[in-house]
Amino acid sequence: MTDHLELPAREWWKSAVVYQIYPRSFADSDGDGIGDLPGITGRLDYLAALGVDVIWLSPVYPSPQDDNGYDISDYQDIDPVFGTLADFDELLEGVHRRGMKLLMDLVVNHTSDEHPWFVESRSSRENPRRDWYWWRPPRPGMTAGDPGAEPTNWLSAFSGSAWELDRDSGEYYLHLFSRKQPDLNWENPEVRAAVYAMMRWWLDRGVDGFRMDVINMISKDPALPDGHSHPGSSPWGDGLPHVLNGPNIHTYLQEMHREVFALHSRAFLAVGETPGCTVEEARLYTDPARGELDMVFQFEHVQVDQDGTKWQRRPLVLGELRAVMNRWQVGLADVGWNSLYWNNHDQPRVVSRYGDDGPEHRVRAATALGTVLHLHRGTPYIYQGEELGMTNAPFVHIEDFRDIESVNHYAAAVAAGQDPHAVLEDLRAVSRDNARTPMQWDGGLHAGFTTGTPWLAVNPNHREINAEAAQADPGSVWHHYRALIGLRHTESAVVHGDFTLLLTEHEQLYAFTRRHRHTVLLVIANLSSRTAVADQVPDVAAWERAELLLSNAPAPDAAHHRFALRPWEARVYRRVQ
Ligand code: GLC
Repeated sequence: MTDHLELPAREWWKSAVVYQIYPRSFADSDGDGIGDLPGITGRLDYLAALGVDVIWLSPVYPSPQDDNGYDISDYQDIDPVFGTLADFDELLEGVHRRGMKLLMDLVVNHTSDEHPWFVESRSSRENPRRDWYWWRPPRPGMTAGDPGAEPTNWLSAFSGSAWELDRDSGEYYLHLFSRKQPDLNWENPEVRAAVYAMMRWWLDRGVDGFRMDVINMISKDPALPDGHSHPGSSPWGDGLPHVLNGPNIHTYLQEMHREVFALHSRAFLAVGETPGCTVEEARLYTDPARGELDMVFQFEHVQVDQDGTKWQRRPLVLGELRAVMNRWQVGLADVGWNSLYWNNHDQPRVVSRYGDDGPEHRVRAATALGTVLHLHRGTPYIYQGEELGMTNAPFVHIEDFRDIESVNHYAAAVAAGQDPHAVLEDLRAVSRDNARTPMQWDGGLHAGFTTGTPWLAVNPNHREINAEAAQADPGSVWHHYRALIGLRHTESAVVHGDFTLLLTEHEQLYAFTRRHRHTVLLVIANLSSRTAVADQVPDVAAWERAELLLSNAPAPDAAHHRFALRPWEARVYRRVQ
Protein backbone atom coordinates (compact mmCIF):
# COMPACT_ATOMS: atom_id res chain seq x y z
CA MET A 1 0.00 0.00 0.00
CA THR A 2 2.68 2.49 0.97
CA ASP A 3 5.90 1.26 -0.62
CA HIS A 4 6.47 4.34 -2.76
CA LEU A 5 6.11 6.48 0.36
CA GLU A 6 9.16 4.77 1.86
CA LEU A 7 7.58 3.80 5.14
CA PRO A 8 8.87 0.90 7.20
CA ALA A 9 6.12 -1.75 7.47
CA ARG A 10 5.68 -1.17 11.19
CA GLU A 11 4.83 2.48 10.51
CA TRP A 12 2.11 1.74 7.93
CA TRP A 13 -0.28 4.03 9.83
CA LYS A 14 1.74 7.11 8.90
CA SER A 15 0.15 7.19 5.45
CA ALA A 16 -3.24 5.91 6.60
CA VAL A 17 -6.56 7.68 7.09
CA VAL A 18 -8.82 6.26 9.80
CA TYR A 19 -12.62 6.35 9.67
CA GLN A 20 -14.51 6.12 12.95
CA ILE A 21 -17.82 4.28 13.04
CA TYR A 22 -20.25 4.78 15.90
CA PRO A 23 -22.09 1.49 15.34
CA ARG A 24 -25.34 2.54 16.99
CA SER A 25 -25.80 5.32 14.48
CA PHE A 26 -24.22 3.99 11.29
CA ALA A 27 -26.53 1.49 9.57
CA ASP A 28 -29.37 -0.64 10.94
CA SER A 29 -29.91 -3.94 9.11
CA ASP A 30 -32.76 -5.40 11.19
CA GLY A 31 -35.12 -2.48 11.69
CA ASP A 32 -34.81 -2.18 15.48
CA GLY A 33 -33.72 1.46 15.12
CA ILE A 34 -30.15 0.78 16.28
CA GLY A 35 -27.22 0.31 13.92
CA ASP A 36 -25.49 -3.08 13.88
CA LEU A 37 -22.55 -5.08 12.50
CA PRO A 38 -24.34 -6.50 9.43
CA GLY A 39 -25.34 -2.89 8.68
CA ILE A 40 -21.65 -1.92 8.65
CA THR A 41 -20.69 -4.93 6.52
CA GLY A 42 -23.32 -3.83 4.03
CA ARG A 43 -21.66 -0.41 3.71
CA LEU A 44 -18.03 -1.47 3.31
CA ASP A 45 -18.03 -0.66 -0.38
CA TYR A 46 -18.98 2.91 0.52
CA LEU A 47 -15.93 3.17 2.78
CA ALA A 48 -13.65 1.54 0.22
CA ALA A 49 -14.89 4.03 -2.38
CA LEU A 50 -14.07 6.90 -0.04
CA GLY A 51 -10.59 5.41 0.17
CA VAL A 52 -10.03 5.09 3.92
CA ASP A 53 -7.43 2.63 5.18
CA VAL A 54 -8.63 1.82 8.67
CA ILE A 55 -12.00 1.54 10.39
CA TRP A 56 -12.22 2.19 14.12
CA LEU A 57 -15.34 0.75 15.69
CA SER A 58 -16.68 2.36 18.84
CA PRO A 59 -17.56 -0.40 21.38
CA VAL A 60 -19.74 -3.30 20.24
CA TYR A 61 -19.25 -5.55 23.28
CA PRO A 62 -22.09 -6.69 25.55
CA SER A 63 -23.09 -3.69 27.62
CA PRO A 64 -26.02 -2.33 29.61
CA GLN A 65 -25.55 0.72 27.30
CA ASP A 66 -25.52 3.23 30.14
CA ASP A 67 -22.86 5.15 28.17
CA ASN A 68 -23.65 3.65 24.76
CA GLY A 69 -21.26 0.72 25.08
CA TYR A 70 -18.41 2.45 26.95
CA ASP A 71 -19.68 0.42 29.91
CA ILE A 72 -18.66 -3.13 29.03
CA SER A 73 -19.97 -6.24 30.78
CA ASP A 74 -18.10 -8.81 28.66
CA TYR A 75 -14.91 -8.01 26.75
CA GLN A 76 -14.99 -11.13 24.59
CA ASP A 77 -18.36 -11.11 22.90
CA ILE A 78 -20.68 -8.89 20.86
CA ASP A 79 -23.78 -7.20 22.26
CA PRO A 80 -26.90 -8.85 20.75
CA VAL A 81 -28.11 -5.42 19.71
CA PHE A 82 -25.13 -5.24 17.34
CA GLY A 83 -25.06 -8.92 16.29
CA THR A 84 -22.89 -11.94 17.07
CA LEU A 85 -19.24 -12.94 16.97
CA ALA A 86 -20.00 -14.61 13.62
CA ASP A 87 -21.24 -11.24 12.33
CA PHE A 88 -18.05 -9.69 13.64
CA ASP A 89 -15.85 -12.23 11.85
CA GLU A 90 -17.76 -11.58 8.66
CA LEU A 91 -17.23 -7.84 9.04
CA LEU A 92 -13.52 -8.29 9.72
CA GLU A 93 -13.17 -10.55 6.72
CA GLY A 94 -14.96 -8.00 4.52
CA VAL A 95 -12.71 -5.22 5.80
CA HIS A 96 -9.54 -7.21 5.12
CA ARG A 97 -10.75 -8.37 1.71
CA ARG A 98 -11.02 -4.72 0.68
CA GLY A 99 -7.48 -4.01 1.87
CA MET A 100 -8.59 -2.10 4.96
CA LYS A 101 -7.84 -2.67 8.63
CA LEU A 102 -10.03 -2.72 11.74
CA LEU A 103 -9.42 -1.15 15.15
CA MET A 104 -11.40 -2.08 18.24
CA ASP A 105 -12.21 0.36 21.02
CA LEU A 106 -10.43 -0.76 24.18
CA VAL A 107 -12.23 0.49 27.29
CA VAL A 108 -10.18 -0.69 30.24
CA ASN A 109 -10.06 2.26 32.61
CA HIS A 110 -13.40 0.94 33.82
CA THR A 111 -15.88 -1.87 33.24
CA SER A 112 -19.64 -1.94 33.58
CA ASP A 113 -20.92 -2.53 37.11
CA GLU A 114 -22.57 -5.58 35.52
CA HIS A 115 -19.24 -7.10 34.45
CA PRO A 116 -18.68 -10.38 36.37
CA TRP A 117 -15.40 -8.95 37.73
CA PHE A 118 -17.27 -6.15 39.44
CA VAL A 119 -20.19 -8.34 40.49
CA GLU A 120 -17.65 -10.52 42.33
CA SER A 121 -15.71 -7.54 43.62
CA ARG A 122 -18.74 -5.98 45.23
CA SER A 123 -20.01 -9.30 46.64
CA SER A 124 -17.93 -8.97 49.82
CA ARG A 125 -14.91 -7.24 51.29
CA GLU A 126 -13.12 -10.58 51.32
CA ASN A 127 -13.75 -11.51 47.72
CA PRO A 128 -10.48 -12.23 45.85
CA ARG A 129 -11.52 -9.69 43.22
CA ARG A 130 -12.28 -6.97 45.79
CA ASP A 131 -9.00 -5.27 44.98
CA TRP A 132 -9.69 -5.24 41.23
CA TYR A 133 -11.54 -1.95 41.75
CA TRP A 134 -11.04 1.11 43.99
CA TRP A 135 -12.96 0.47 47.22
CA ARG A 136 -12.60 2.90 50.11
CA PRO A 137 -14.30 3.47 53.48
CA PRO A 138 -16.07 6.76 54.18
CA ARG A 139 -14.00 9.81 55.07
CA PRO A 140 -12.54 9.36 58.62
CA GLY A 141 -15.00 10.37 61.31
CA MET A 142 -17.98 10.36 58.95
CA THR A 143 -20.81 7.92 58.39
CA ALA A 144 -21.25 6.19 55.05
CA GLY A 145 -23.97 7.89 53.03
CA ASP A 146 -23.71 11.29 54.74
CA PRO A 147 -23.11 14.22 52.38
CA GLY A 148 -19.37 14.78 52.21
CA ALA A 149 -18.52 11.30 53.52
CA GLU A 150 -17.23 10.26 50.09
CA PRO A 151 -13.54 9.21 50.26
CA THR A 152 -12.53 12.21 48.10
CA ASN A 153 -14.30 15.33 46.83
CA TRP A 154 -13.84 14.33 43.18
CA LEU A 155 -16.51 15.22 40.65
CA SER A 156 -17.38 12.52 38.11
CA ALA A 157 -17.23 13.37 34.40
CA PHE A 158 -20.97 12.77 34.25
CA SER A 159 -21.97 15.04 37.20
CA GLY A 160 -22.14 14.28 40.93
CA SER A 161 -19.63 12.48 43.12
CA ALA A 162 -17.10 10.09 41.57
CA TRP A 163 -17.85 7.69 44.46
CA GLU A 164 -20.86 5.45 44.86
CA LEU A 165 -21.75 3.87 48.18
CA ASP A 166 -22.32 0.13 48.24
CA ARG A 167 -24.67 -0.16 51.20
CA ASP A 168 -24.07 -3.88 51.75
CA SER A 169 -20.38 -3.50 52.51
CA GLY A 170 -20.50 0.11 53.72
CA GLU A 171 -17.70 1.09 51.31
CA TYR A 172 -17.59 3.33 48.26
CA TYR A 173 -16.24 2.50 44.80
CA LEU A 174 -14.62 4.97 42.45
CA HIS A 175 -16.25 5.79 39.11
CA LEU A 176 -14.67 8.66 37.19
CA PHE A 177 -17.57 8.36 34.73
CA SER A 178 -21.10 7.07 35.47
CA ARG A 179 -21.91 5.03 38.56
CA LYS A 180 -22.31 2.11 36.19
CA GLN A 181 -18.65 2.48 35.11
CA PRO A 182 -16.50 1.48 38.12
CA ASP A 183 -12.76 2.15 37.66
CA LEU A 184 -10.47 -0.87 37.45
CA ASN A 185 -7.51 -0.91 39.82
CA TRP A 186 -4.50 -1.19 37.53
CA GLU A 187 -2.18 -1.37 40.56
CA ASN A 188 -3.29 -4.99 40.83
CA PRO A 189 -1.16 -7.17 38.48
CA GLU A 190 -4.04 -9.63 38.03
CA VAL A 191 -6.13 -6.87 36.47
CA ARG A 192 -3.37 -6.05 34.04
CA ALA A 193 -2.81 -9.69 33.11
CA ALA A 194 -6.54 -10.16 32.46
CA VAL A 195 -6.66 -7.10 30.21
CA TYR A 196 -3.58 -8.17 28.24
CA ALA A 197 -5.00 -11.68 27.75
CA MET A 198 -8.22 -10.17 26.40
CA MET A 199 -6.28 -7.92 24.01
CA ARG A 200 -4.27 -10.88 22.70
CA TRP A 201 -7.54 -12.73 22.09
CA TRP A 202 -8.77 -9.95 19.78
CA LEU A 203 -5.45 -9.66 17.98
CA ASP A 204 -5.44 -13.44 17.45
CA ARG A 205 -8.93 -13.07 15.99
CA GLY A 206 -7.44 -10.74 13.40
CA VAL A 207 -8.04 -7.16 14.52
CA ASP A 208 -5.38 -4.62 13.63
CA GLY A 209 -5.11 -2.58 16.79
CA PHE A 210 -6.93 -0.58 19.40
CA ARG A 211 -8.18 2.90 20.14
CA MET A 212 -7.69 3.08 23.90
CA ASP A 213 -10.39 4.91 25.81
CA VAL A 214 -9.11 7.46 28.40
CA ILE A 215 -5.96 5.35 28.65
CA ASN A 216 -4.00 8.02 30.54
CA MET A 217 -6.38 7.63 33.49
CA ILE A 218 -5.42 4.05 34.37
CA SER A 219 -2.69 5.04 36.83
CA LYS A 220 -4.08 7.00 39.77
CA ASP A 221 -2.19 8.61 42.61
CA PRO A 222 -2.69 5.80 45.17
CA ALA A 223 -3.01 8.33 48.00
CA LEU A 224 -6.24 9.60 46.36
CA PRO A 225 -5.89 13.19 47.60
CA ASP A 226 -8.81 15.61 47.52
CA GLY A 227 -9.00 17.82 44.44
CA HIS A 228 -8.78 21.59 44.29
CA SER A 229 -12.22 23.09 44.97
CA HIS A 230 -13.96 26.45 44.98
CA PRO A 231 -15.81 26.46 48.31
CA GLY A 232 -19.09 28.29 48.07
CA SER A 233 -19.70 27.68 44.38
CA SER A 234 -19.59 23.89 44.29
CA PRO A 235 -19.07 21.08 46.79
CA TRP A 236 -16.85 19.22 44.33
CA GLY A 237 -13.13 19.26 43.73
CA ASP A 238 -11.15 18.49 40.58
CA GLY A 239 -9.70 14.98 40.84
CA LEU A 240 -8.23 14.98 37.34
CA PRO A 241 -4.71 16.08 38.35
CA HIS A 242 -4.57 12.94 40.52
CA VAL A 243 -5.68 10.51 37.81
CA LEU A 244 -4.28 11.87 34.53
CA ASN A 245 -0.83 10.67 33.42
CA GLY A 246 -0.35 9.12 36.87
CA PRO A 247 2.84 7.77 38.44
CA ASN A 248 2.80 4.32 36.78
CA ILE A 249 1.27 5.18 33.44
CA HIS A 250 4.40 4.70 31.36
CA THR A 251 5.28 1.48 33.17
CA TYR A 252 1.84 0.05 32.41
CA LEU A 253 1.85 1.05 28.77
CA GLN A 254 5.34 -0.38 28.27
CA GLU A 255 4.26 -3.58 29.97
CA MET A 256 1.18 -3.73 27.71
CA HIS A 257 3.38 -3.25 24.67
CA ARG A 258 5.66 -6.12 25.74
CA GLU A 259 2.87 -8.45 26.80
CA VAL A 260 0.55 -7.83 23.87
CA PHE A 261 1.85 -6.09 20.76
CA ALA A 262 5.48 -7.22 20.83
CA LEU A 263 4.42 -10.88 20.92
CA HIS A 264 3.10 -10.68 17.36
CA SER A 265 5.01 -10.25 14.13
CA ARG A 266 2.18 -8.18 12.61
CA ALA A 267 2.33 -4.41 13.00
CA PHE A 268 -0.61 -2.88 14.82
CA LEU A 269 -1.94 0.58 15.52
CA ALA A 270 -2.28 1.67 19.14
CA VAL A 271 -3.84 5.10 19.59
CA GLY A 272 -4.57 6.38 23.06
CA GLU A 273 -7.29 8.82 24.01
CA THR A 274 -5.48 11.13 26.45
CA PRO A 275 -7.42 14.06 27.88
CA GLY A 276 -5.22 16.63 29.60
CA CYS A 277 -2.12 15.39 27.79
CA THR A 278 0.59 17.96 27.12
CA VAL A 279 3.01 17.92 24.21
CA GLU A 280 5.76 16.89 26.64
CA GLU A 281 3.73 13.87 27.83
CA ALA A 282 2.81 12.99 24.25
CA ARG A 283 6.48 12.84 23.30
CA LEU A 284 6.91 10.17 25.97
CA TYR A 285 3.79 8.23 24.97
CA THR A 286 4.63 8.18 21.26
CA ASP A 287 8.42 7.91 21.14
CA PRO A 288 8.85 4.60 19.29
CA ALA A 289 12.00 3.85 21.27
CA ARG A 290 9.94 3.68 24.48
CA GLY A 291 7.42 1.11 23.20
CA GLU A 292 4.16 2.67 24.47
CA LEU A 293 1.66 4.06 21.93
CA ASP A 294 1.86 5.04 18.27
CA MET A 295 -0.10 8.28 18.71
CA VAL A 296 -2.52 9.98 21.09
CA PHE A 297 -5.70 12.00 20.82
CA GLN A 298 -4.90 15.26 22.57
CA PHE A 299 -7.71 17.69 23.44
CA GLU A 300 -6.21 21.17 23.36
CA HIS A 301 -7.51 22.11 19.91
CA VAL A 302 -11.08 21.13 20.83
CA GLN A 303 -11.00 23.22 24.00
CA VAL A 304 -10.05 26.60 22.53
CA ASP A 305 -13.73 27.61 22.42
CA GLN A 306 -14.28 26.65 26.07
CA ASP A 307 -13.84 28.59 29.30
CA GLY A 308 -13.05 26.11 32.04
CA THR A 309 -15.70 23.45 31.47
CA LYS A 310 -17.10 22.23 28.17
CA TRP A 311 -20.42 23.92 28.98
CA GLN A 312 -18.88 27.37 29.21
CA ARG A 313 -18.45 28.53 25.64
CA ARG A 314 -16.56 31.37 24.06
CA PRO A 315 -16.11 32.32 20.42
CA LEU A 316 -13.31 30.70 18.49
CA VAL A 317 -10.29 32.91 17.83
CA LEU A 318 -8.51 31.51 14.77
CA GLY A 319 -5.10 32.50 16.09
CA GLU A 320 -5.58 30.41 19.23
CA LEU A 321 -6.61 27.31 17.30
CA ARG A 322 -3.69 27.74 14.91
CA ALA A 323 -1.23 28.26 17.75
CA VAL A 324 -2.33 25.04 19.47
CA MET A 325 -2.11 23.02 16.26
CA ASN A 326 1.31 24.52 15.53
CA ARG A 327 2.60 23.71 19.01
CA TRP A 328 1.68 20.03 18.50
CA GLN A 329 3.19 19.96 15.01
CA VAL A 330 6.45 21.45 16.25
CA GLY A 331 6.45 19.45 19.48
CA LEU A 332 6.19 16.09 17.74
CA ALA A 333 8.36 16.94 14.74
CA ASP A 334 11.43 15.00 15.82
CA VAL A 335 9.89 12.39 18.14
CA GLY A 336 6.49 10.70 18.08
CA TRP A 337 3.53 11.28 15.84
CA ASN A 338 0.30 13.31 15.82
CA SER A 339 -3.24 12.13 15.37
CA LEU A 340 -5.40 14.70 13.61
CA TYR A 341 -9.10 15.06 14.29
CA TRP A 342 -11.89 17.60 14.39
CA ASN A 343 -14.68 15.21 15.24
CA ASN A 344 -15.56 12.04 17.07
CA HIS A 345 -18.58 10.72 18.96
CA ASP A 346 -17.87 13.11 21.87
CA GLN A 347 -17.51 16.38 19.94
CA PRO A 348 -20.10 18.60 18.24
CA ARG A 349 -19.90 18.68 14.43
CA VAL A 350 -16.96 20.74 13.24
CA VAL A 351 -18.76 22.52 10.40
CA SER A 352 -21.24 23.89 12.96
CA ARG A 353 -18.56 24.58 15.54
CA TYR A 354 -15.52 26.06 13.79
CA GLY A 355 -17.13 26.51 10.35
CA ASP A 356 -20.40 27.84 9.00
CA ASP A 357 -23.27 25.39 8.57
CA GLY A 358 -25.65 27.80 6.79
CA PRO A 359 -26.69 26.89 3.23
CA GLU A 360 -24.41 29.47 1.62
CA HIS A 361 -21.12 28.35 3.12
CA ARG A 362 -21.56 24.83 4.52
CA VAL A 363 -19.85 22.88 1.74
CA ARG A 364 -16.89 25.23 1.49
CA ALA A 365 -16.52 25.52 5.25
CA ALA A 366 -16.53 21.73 5.69
CA THR A 367 -14.03 21.23 2.88
CA ALA A 368 -11.77 24.09 4.03
CA LEU A 369 -11.60 22.64 7.55
CA GLY A 370 -11.00 19.17 6.10
CA THR A 371 -8.18 20.48 3.89
CA VAL A 372 -6.43 22.21 6.76
CA LEU A 373 -6.61 19.15 9.00
CA HIS A 374 -5.65 16.54 6.41
CA LEU A 375 -2.63 18.50 5.23
CA HIS A 376 -1.05 18.59 8.68
CA ARG A 377 1.61 16.06 9.59
CA GLY A 378 0.04 13.09 11.38
CA THR A 379 -2.69 10.51 10.89
CA PRO A 380 -6.12 11.98 10.11
CA TYR A 381 -9.32 10.57 11.61
CA ILE A 382 -12.69 11.09 9.94
CA TYR A 383 -15.81 10.65 12.04
CA GLN A 384 -18.81 9.17 10.23
CA GLY A 385 -20.77 11.85 8.39
CA GLU A 386 -17.91 14.36 8.52
CA GLU A 387 -17.24 13.41 4.88
CA LEU A 388 -20.78 14.67 4.11
CA GLY A 389 -20.44 17.88 6.09
CA MET A 390 -23.08 16.67 8.56
CA THR A 391 -24.10 19.41 11.01
CA ASN A 392 -25.22 19.71 14.61
CA ALA A 393 -28.80 18.62 15.25
CA PRO A 394 -31.79 20.91 15.81
CA PHE A 395 -32.59 19.57 19.30
CA VAL A 396 -35.40 21.48 20.99
CA HIS A 397 -36.42 19.88 24.31
CA ILE A 398 -34.42 18.05 26.96
CA GLU A 399 -36.39 14.94 25.95
CA ASP A 400 -34.67 15.07 22.54
CA PHE A 401 -31.31 14.22 24.13
CA ARG A 402 -30.13 10.69 24.93
CA ASP A 403 -26.52 11.11 26.07
CA ILE A 404 -25.92 10.43 29.77
CA GLU A 405 -23.49 13.33 30.01
CA SER A 406 -26.07 15.78 28.61
CA VAL A 407 -29.03 14.43 30.55
CA ASN A 408 -27.11 14.40 33.85
CA HIS A 409 -25.64 17.85 33.27
CA TYR A 410 -29.08 19.32 32.61
CA ALA A 411 -30.50 17.82 35.81
CA ALA A 412 -27.52 18.94 37.92
CA ALA A 413 -27.34 22.46 36.45
CA VAL A 414 -31.07 23.07 36.82
CA ALA A 415 -31.02 21.69 40.38
CA ALA A 416 -28.16 24.11 41.12
CA GLY A 417 -30.38 27.01 40.05
CA GLN A 418 -29.28 27.66 36.44
CA ASP A 419 -31.87 28.86 33.93
CA PRO A 420 -33.17 25.75 32.10
CA HIS A 421 -33.32 27.63 28.80
CA ALA A 422 -29.69 28.64 29.08
CA VAL A 423 -28.66 25.09 29.94
CA LEU A 424 -30.54 23.80 26.90
CA GLU A 425 -28.74 26.37 24.75
CA ASP A 426 -25.43 24.93 25.98
CA LEU A 427 -26.56 21.38 25.23
CA ARG A 428 -27.61 22.35 21.71
CA ALA A 429 -24.15 23.71 21.04
CA VAL A 430 -21.94 21.07 22.62
CA SER A 431 -23.92 17.94 23.49
CA ARG A 432 -22.31 14.72 22.32
CA ASP A 433 -25.67 13.80 20.77
CA ASN A 434 -24.85 16.26 17.97
CA ALA A 435 -22.33 13.72 16.71
CA ARG A 436 -24.57 10.74 17.31
CA THR A 437 -27.59 11.42 15.10
CA PRO A 438 -27.92 8.65 12.51
CA MET A 439 -25.72 8.58 9.44
CA GLN A 440 -27.47 10.28 6.54
CA TRP A 441 -27.42 7.77 3.70
CA ASP A 442 -30.19 9.20 1.53
CA GLY A 443 -33.03 11.72 1.43
CA GLY A 444 -35.75 9.15 2.22
CA LEU A 445 -37.44 7.99 5.40
CA HIS A 446 -35.02 8.11 8.37
CA ALA A 447 -32.23 8.93 5.94
CA GLY A 448 -31.95 5.28 4.91
CA PHE A 449 -30.46 4.52 8.33
CA THR A 450 -33.29 2.24 9.50
CA THR A 451 -36.69 0.98 8.49
CA GLY A 452 -37.74 1.19 12.14
CA THR A 453 -37.75 4.08 14.60
CA PRO A 454 -34.24 5.52 15.05
CA TRP A 455 -32.97 5.48 18.65
CA LEU A 456 -32.03 9.19 18.22
CA ALA A 457 -33.88 11.39 15.75
CA VAL A 458 -32.42 11.77 12.28
CA ASN A 459 -31.40 15.33 11.38
CA PRO A 460 -34.14 16.69 9.06
CA ASN A 461 -31.46 18.19 6.83
CA HIS A 462 -30.80 14.66 5.52
CA ARG A 463 -33.08 15.59 2.61
CA GLU A 464 -30.22 17.72 1.26
CA ILE A 465 -27.20 16.39 3.14
CA ASN A 466 -26.81 12.67 2.46
CA ALA A 467 -24.33 10.18 1.03
CA GLU A 468 -26.33 9.41 -2.09
CA ALA A 469 -26.54 13.07 -3.13
CA ALA A 470 -22.92 13.72 -2.17
CA GLN A 471 -21.55 10.82 -4.19
CA ALA A 472 -23.48 12.05 -7.24
CA ASP A 473 -22.16 15.64 -6.94
CA PRO A 474 -18.50 16.18 -7.92
CA GLY A 475 -18.47 19.43 -5.90
CA SER A 476 -19.55 17.71 -2.65
CA VAL A 477 -17.75 17.43 0.66
CA TRP A 478 -17.54 13.67 0.00
CA HIS A 479 -15.55 14.08 -3.21
CA HIS A 480 -13.25 16.58 -1.55
CA TYR A 481 -12.54 14.21 1.33
CA ARG A 482 -11.90 11.44 -1.17
CA ALA A 483 -9.34 13.67 -2.88
CA LEU A 484 -7.70 14.54 0.45
CA ILE A 485 -7.35 10.85 1.30
CA GLY A 486 -5.97 10.17 -2.17
CA LEU A 487 -3.38 12.92 -1.75
CA ARG A 488 -2.06 11.32 1.42
CA HIS A 489 -1.59 8.07 -0.48
CA THR A 490 0.26 9.60 -3.41
CA GLU A 491 2.12 12.71 -2.24
CA SER A 492 5.01 11.92 0.06
CA ALA A 493 5.27 15.53 1.26
CA VAL A 494 1.84 15.06 2.91
CA VAL A 495 3.16 12.11 4.88
CA HIS A 496 6.76 13.10 5.55
CA GLY A 497 7.00 16.82 4.94
CA ASP A 498 8.03 19.22 7.69
CA PHE A 499 5.52 21.84 8.86
CA THR A 500 6.00 25.60 8.85
CA LEU A 501 3.19 27.89 9.91
CA LEU A 502 2.82 31.12 7.90
CA LEU A 503 0.86 34.35 8.45
CA THR A 504 0.87 33.79 12.19
CA GLU A 505 -1.02 37.01 12.90
CA HIS A 506 -3.70 36.77 10.21
CA GLU A 507 -7.29 36.82 11.47
CA GLN A 508 -8.85 34.84 8.61
CA LEU A 509 -6.17 32.79 6.88
CA TYR A 510 -4.68 29.48 8.00
CA ALA A 511 -1.55 28.92 5.94
CA PHE A 512 1.44 26.61 6.14
CA THR A 513 4.00 24.82 4.05
CA ARG A 514 5.05 21.17 4.05
CA ARG A 515 8.51 20.49 2.66
CA HIS A 516 9.96 17.10 1.80
CA ARG A 517 13.19 16.90 -0.18
CA HIS A 518 12.60 19.02 -3.29
CA THR A 519 8.85 19.27 -2.96
CA VAL A 520 7.09 22.07 -1.11
CA LEU A 521 3.33 22.24 -0.60
CA LEU A 522 1.57 25.46 0.33
CA VAL A 523 -1.75 25.08 2.11
CA ILE A 524 -3.83 28.19 2.39
CA ALA A 525 -7.38 28.41 3.66
CA ASN A 526 -9.70 31.28 4.37
CA LEU A 527 -11.49 30.20 7.54
CA SER A 528 -13.95 33.06 7.49
CA SER A 529 -17.06 34.23 5.64
CA ARG A 530 -15.29 37.29 4.14
CA THR A 531 -12.80 37.49 1.30
CA ALA A 532 -9.16 37.44 2.41
CA VAL A 533 -6.06 38.39 0.48
CA ALA A 534 -2.98 36.27 1.02
CA ASP A 535 -0.36 38.46 -0.56
CA GLN A 536 1.91 38.33 2.49
CA VAL A 537 2.71 34.66 1.82
CA PRO A 538 6.49 34.45 1.44
CA ASP A 539 7.49 33.90 -2.20
CA VAL A 540 4.04 34.83 -3.35
CA ALA A 541 5.14 35.41 -6.95
CA ALA A 542 6.53 31.89 -7.22
CA TRP A 543 3.44 30.41 -5.63
CA GLU A 544 1.24 32.24 -8.09
CA ARG A 545 2.85 30.22 -10.87
CA ALA A 546 2.82 26.93 -8.94
CA GLU A 547 0.70 23.88 -9.64
CA LEU A 548 -2.72 24.01 -7.91
CA LEU A 549 -2.98 20.46 -6.57
CA LEU A 550 -6.32 20.69 -4.85
CA SER A 551 -8.93 23.30 -4.11
CA ASN A 552 -12.52 23.50 -2.90
CA ALA A 553 -13.59 26.27 -5.29
CA PRO A 554 -13.42 27.02 -9.02
CA ALA A 555 -9.91 27.93 -10.19
CA PRO A 556 -8.98 31.54 -9.46
CA ASP A 557 -9.93 33.89 -12.27
CA ALA A 558 -6.87 35.38 -14.00
CA ALA A 559 -8.55 38.78 -14.10
CA HIS A 560 -8.71 38.88 -10.31
CA HIS A 561 -6.05 38.97 -7.69
CA ARG A 562 -4.86 35.35 -7.77
CA PHE A 563 -4.32 35.25 -4.04
CA ALA A 564 -7.70 36.65 -3.04
CA LEU A 565 -9.51 33.77 -1.34
CA ARG A 566 -13.29 33.69 -1.31
CA PRO A 567 -15.12 32.85 1.95
CA TRP A 568 -13.99 29.40 3.14
CA GLU A 569 -11.84 28.84 0.07
CA ALA A 570 -8.92 26.45 0.52
CA ARG A 571 -6.09 25.63 -1.84
CA VAL A 572 -3.08 23.33 -1.91
CA TYR A 573 -0.21 24.29 -4.22
CA ARG A 574 2.93 22.32 -5.09
CA ARG A 575 6.34 23.44 -6.21
CA VAL A 576 9.41 21.36 -6.93
CA GLN A 577 12.61 23.24 -6.20
C1 GLC B 1 -14.17 8.41 26.43
C2 GLC B 1 -15.20 8.11 25.37
C3 GLC B 1 -16.53 8.61 25.83
C4 GLC B 1 -16.90 7.88 27.10
C5 GLC B 1 -15.80 8.00 28.15
C6 GLC B 1 -15.97 6.96 29.21
O1 GLC B 1 -13.98 9.77 26.59
O2 GLC B 1 -14.80 8.63 24.14
O3 GLC B 1 -17.53 8.45 24.86
O4 GLC B 1 -18.09 8.39 27.61
O5 GLC B 1 -14.51 7.81 27.62
O6 GLC B 1 -15.71 5.69 28.69
